[in-house]
Amino acid sequence: MSKSQKMPSGAKAQDSNGNALERRRSQDALRQNEHRLRLALDSAEMGTWDWNLTTDAIQWDQRQYQLFGTSPDNFSGLGSDAIGLIHPEDQAHVRAIIEQALNKSDVFGMEFRVRHPDGSLHWLAGRGQPLMTATDGSLHLIGVNFDITEHKQLEQERAEYARLEDKAQMHRLHVAGEIAALLAHQLNQPLAAIRSFAEARLARLRRGDFDMQEAVSTMQDIVEQSERAAKSIRDLRKFLARQPQAMVEADLNAEVRAACKLMEVLARGRKIRLRMKLEESMPLILMRPSQIEQVIVNLIENAMDAMADAGHRSGTIEIGTRHEAAKNQVLACVEDSGPGLAADAVSRVFEPLYTTKKNGIGMGLVISRSIIEGHGGRIWAEPGEAGRFLFALPVSQ
Ligand SMILES: Nc1ncnc2c1ncn2[C@@H]1O[C@H](COP(=O)(O)OP(=O)(O)O)[C@@H](O)[C@H]1O
Ligand SMILES: [Mg+2]
Repeated sequence: MSKSQKMPSGAKAQDSNGNALERRRSQDALRQNEHRLRLALDSAEMGTWDWNLTTDAIQWDQRQYQLFGTSPDNFSGLGSDAIGLIHPEDQAHVRAIIEQALNKSDVFGMEFRVRHPDGSLHWLAGRGQPLMTATDGSLHLIGVNFDITEHKQLEQERAEYARLEDKAQMHRLHVAGEIAALLAHQLNQPLAAIRSFAEARLARLRRGDFDMQEAVSTMQDIVEQSERAAKSIRDLRKFLARQPQAMVEADLNAEVRAACKLMEVLARGRKIRLRMKLEESMPLILMRPSQIEQVIVNLIENAMDAMADAGHRSGTIEIGTRHEAAKNQVLACVEDSGPGLAADAVSRVFEPLYTTKKNGIGMGLVISRSIIEGHGGRIWAEPGEAGRFLFALPVSQ
């Protein structure tokens, strides 16, 4: 054979070798791609599906079965049955999204729920797209699913936070109205007194009555009344200056301890013992801690006043906490050894401006109630021979 004859056959052999090599290379590349894809799907905990719309057959990988809470033995392998596994309330929505994706032959995303045989509800998210196969021209929908239950729960919790915040805001507005009324009431008296003192003195001065001693006494009265007005404003400012705090998970016992520490010195001065009776394992609850502390301080202050007003020279205030698991709430109780409350007083004490004290304002319990209700809780007093004030706060789930 001549060289020139050999050449083509040699080239041909090389060519087919080259083809085989090329094929092996592309097979390798394909396998590598598959490995990479599998790794990515596994790390993202994603299941894949491939739905042949011509035959209705749907291919699921192992993870996809897990996501739907089923197994190859319990599943027909039909796309229409797969839709049937979706939560009934979400099926129409999923169908609509798929239809839209087919019309626009576009990538689509969706979220839906599935219930597993153990009764648990899972949120799945999916991404997919229509695909025409080159081999037989059949139309497929291919896609991935992944579990977003935790994410959804977080979303729900966030919505719950927002709801509580809204509620608190509503209460703040409500209280603002009550405060405006209170301010008018509180300032009216001293202002009227100041005016009449000043007018009377002015009339005397005009008449030529310059009695220095009487003038000083009038001035003292005026100073006293303006101090009274200033105190009302200061007290209200203190309350209003409190910035709306963020809700955090906190321990009610810790707030009771903080409040008692704050009141300790005052109590000791009045020979009153503050006794804590705290349940040991309390669940954390969503709250604005300093507001809750303020409520407890208010209740302790009232308890001390009640005992003093009744002429008790000493006594005990007990502050207790309890977890009521069945009601999903925690409870705090402030109990004094004072005169207690009559049945008709237990609701009146929460009315704005209701006070039985000489220097009372009658807003402590209004503010306390607004704080507790702003937390989704309840505050009340129990009638009896001793003062008993309780509040309950919901345990966040
Ligand atoms: N522990 C208690 N025992 C008896 N009466 C109480 C007690 N706590 C509150 N009260 C009654 O409720 C009223 C309203 O309380 P509050 O709203 O704190 O306003 P203030 O303390 O300015 O009077 C008090 O004036 C008192 O008559
Ligand atoms: Mg008070």
